[in-house]
Amino acid sequence: MNTSPPSNNTSTPQPHSIVTPMGTRRKFFKLVTGLSSVFIGMSLTVPLIGYVISPALKRRQATWMPVGKVKDLPVNEPKDLDYAVTIQDGYLETRQTKAVWTLKHQDGTVTVFSPICPHLGCGYRWDSQERKFRCPCHGSVYDIHGKVLGGPAPRPLDVLPSKIENGELLVIYKEFKSGLSTQVEL
Ligand code: FES
Repeated sequence: MNTSPPSNNTSTPQPHSIVTPMGTRRKFFKLVTGLSSVFIGMSLTVPLIGYVISPALKRRQATWMPVGKVKDLPVNEPKDLDYAVTIQDGYLETRQTKAVWTLKHQDGTVTVFSPICPHLGCGYRWDSQERKFRCPCHGSVYDIHGKVLGGPAPRPLDVLPSKIENGELLVIYKEFKSGLSTQVEL
């Protein structure tokens, strides 16, 4: 008589026959751990790099600067004004003396021109006899409103942002690329 237990082909596999995807699981956890480390590292490093280099990447920043009292400007007669300006260039803060040409109108408003000729960057002058701006370098001529009358200038005189507060004329100093027909700020 056979007393041995009946054979069962569908019985639970013995431990030695279990195939576990341990290698795959280990690789998976390694990968997740590695990716997490990279992610955490990047999340800490990127803001730090941004903090360190962002001032250097920022555009040159200039602020509103007072250039003079509006009441002191002659009406319909261009006047050049010098003033000190603080320029923030990355980490570097410099104080420079700049000049602008101003034109006060009958209604009390003021137009402020960059003092740089848009042709190739020379300084121009106001010819009070002929009532024209003239650039000595290559002969560009502009009318009192900055419109080109002659010479190689590719565009009118550059107008700078300006406003009047408590009788004071405030200007943001900007520079533009020379030789272009359109204004491109530096
Ligand atoms: S720089 Fe003024 S005309 Fe050339």
